Amino acid sequence: MLQEIKMLLPTFSLLLLCISSAISVKNDDPNYAERKRLTENLLSKSEAPHMQLRPPTPTGTPLNVTVNIYIRDIYDIDEDRNRFTVQLTMRQEWTDNRLAYTPTSADFKYFLFENIGHDGPPNIWIPDTFFREEISAFDHRLPHFNQLLRIYPDGHLLHSKRITVELHCSTLKNVKEYDCPITLASYMYPTSDLNLYWRELDAYQIWGGAATDLQGVYLKNVTTNSCTRKTLLGDWPCLDMTLTFNHHLYECPSS
Ligand SMILES: *[C@@H]1O[C@H](CO)[C@@H](O)[C@H](O)[C@H]1NC(C)=O
Ligand SMILES: *[C@@H]1O[C@H](CO)[C@@H](O)[C@H](O)[C@H]1NC(C)=O
Repeated sequence: MLQEIKMLLPTFSLLLLCISSAISVKNDDPNYAERKRLTENLLSKSEAPHMQLRPPTPTGTPLNVTVNIYIRDIYDIDEDRNRFTVQLTMRQEWTDNRLAYTPTSADFKYFLFENIGHDGPPNIWIPDTFFREEISAFDHRLPHFNQLLRIYPDGHLLHSKRITVELHCSTLKNVKEYDCPITLASYMYPTSDLNLYWRELDAYQIWGGAATDLQGVYLKNVTTNSCTRKTLLGDWPCLDMTLTFNHHLYECPSS
């Protein structure tokens, strides 16, 4: 037995040599080297406290944030409690030129921030967009935070997060059709600091199987608009999405 193990040892050593050379080949991966360099560079940059400030714009005008929503599912329309639940991916794009970098290869498209946590990447400013009609919400974090951040060389950022949100809607049982709004707004920044825009080409997408099993109603239409709300503290940027639901079978309420 011992003899056999001794005889096998050279084979094992050869195998180990092969594995370790395979690892060193992996470390020569130019794309990996670039990502490693950029991670170190970005993390050291984002240590500075000012990185938590709203990004500067070239002429000091409001920062533009572009939003796109992918509706993954709609469920639990609760006509008695005036609420419904949506599972969606919220994508936001903006530019933070403090994070711009020069890749060593022209093929390098964007840097993917892989060590992202629940609150996003450490010290990188993320828009504070919230849902005005929110009653409750949670983000999805298993098996890993359902969130991504891409940083393009010119400082353009794309942040995406999967969220399930229960929203208030003044549904009316005895009407054929009703509208439920999803309104996005900035909590902190007035329109002099930040503007919200729907993504021009694709403001929203809806997964084909979404809203197919709602009891008694179906999703008839979706429209998007932009809005500005006046409050005691000033004008606030906002975006509106209206989901129009229709009852399949509608009988006029008897009077
Ligand atoms: C924001 O968008 C508006 C409207 O498209 C544009 O006029 C303005 O220059 C943009 N601002 C910045 C900082 O890009
Ligand atoms: C959806 O709403 C838009 C804007 O109000 C309208 O032009 C369009 O005809 C509607 N589509 C349907 C299927 O109702």
